[in-house]
Amino acid sequence: MAKKKIVLAYSGGLDTSVMLKWLQEQYDSDVVSVTLDVGQGDDLKAIEEKAWKLGVVNHYTFDSKTEFAVEYVFPAIKANALYMDTYPVSSSLSRPLIAKKLVEVAEMEDAYAVAHGCTGKGNDQVRFDVTIKSLNPKLKIIAPVREWKFDRHSEILWAKEHGIPVPVTVDSPYSIDQNLWGRSIEGGVLEYPNKIAPDEIWDWTVPVEKAPNEPEYITIGFHKGVPVSIDGVEMKPVELLQKVHKAGCRHGIGRIEHMEDRTVGLKSRETYEIPAAEILLIAHKDLEKMVLTIHQMLVKREIDHKWTTLVYQGLWVDPLKKDLEAFIDSTQENVTGWVTMKLFKGTAKPVKRDSPYSLYDYNLTSFDINVSYDQGDAVGFISLWGLPSVTSWNLKRKMIEKQTVEEETQKVAPTAKSKI
Ligand code: ARG
Repeated sequence: MAKKKIVLAYSGGLDTSVMLKWLQEQYDSDVVSVTLDVGQGDDLKAIEEKAWKLGVVNHYTFDSKTEFAVEYVFPAIKANALYMDTYPVSSSLSRPLIAKKLVEVAEMEDAYAVAHGCTGKGNDQVRFDVTIKSLNPKLKIIAPVREWKFDRHSEILWAKEHGIPVPVTVDSPYSIDQNLWGRSIEGGVLEYPNKIAPDEIWDWTVPVEKAPNEPEYITIGFHKGVPVSIDGVEMKPVELLQKVHKAGCRHGIGRIEHMEDRTVGLKSRETYEIPAAEILLIAHKDLEKMVLTIHQMLVKREIDHKWTTLVYQGLWVDPLKKDLEAFIDSTQENVTGWVTMKLFKGTAKPVKRDSPYSLYDYNLTSFDINVSYDQGDAVGFISLWGLPSVTSWNLKRKMIEKQTVEEETQKVAPTAKSKI
């Protein structure tokens, strides 16, 4: 009789390879492996072959790059998503997509459980579990790392005993996660925030010292808040993200690190390479500043912040996300136009922009022209605008005067008495 099936999110790395065998053994189940291409740049054929060799009963490879770009990265651009003002939530975005695919495959394969390689200390487990539970509460969720008692050494021993190929790179102490929107590097010496991150962790971007001595200008075209062209040439979402990514890498753009608050209550030092995100988020925000009113922008900042925190904290499936997106999408109606970015020695700066929906009006703003904006109006406006502040200063002055008079009379009083 065929065994019951578990669907495993399989990256081809050592941990999920050990997991594959471990699940077969510990749960006495068949394993179906699933690998998504979200632009991490792995050899998907080799991963599939490895899975078959380790004895899966079926394997699925999904090219999810376009879905990831359009349904996950683009909403993050519209929301100017930077968790704690720094991290463009690159890993956070891919987890709900992988979880959704796991559930789809589990239903197709009539599996009783899904498994993922997350540890019990990170955010990814929250993102996987909440999405899976919401989409199909009947599925059992297995996170072997939360159960097994392996340390690095015993895991490698176990792998060798079970004929699992242990890559030479196993010495690398880093946990790395990559996709179209960014690369995260954790672990090893990075766990000491008081030590400088070693150069070896950077893989995508050149060091600033080696970046070209000449700047490069790149013009990003936006339509309703999402990037659609580079230097006037329309591009498909994935192609566009990859092109901006390469330009950023060449100029050493997007090496970042910060102290991050994880959803599970821990603080950690996190390092990322985010060349495309750095360039596109700055460009997008610059265009918003041209087409949105100050009132829209002030509220949007808070809504953006809510969206970003929700997504980081693993609640992609919460209905609040759709509610917030209704507001965000409404603001993006006019975020159409272009921004030219100057890429130079690790920096990406907006240097010119335009939009058919621009609220900037040369005739109104220019120092050289004096029509339609009556400078005389400013006087009345300033009187009312500044009235609360001026009033408070008037009161302050009155109080000081009163105090001085009281002090004066107190000084005078005893002399008057002594005269009696
Ligand atoms: N701190 C980031 C986040 O929570 C990065 C997580 C990276 N995940 C990984 N499995 N290496 O989104």
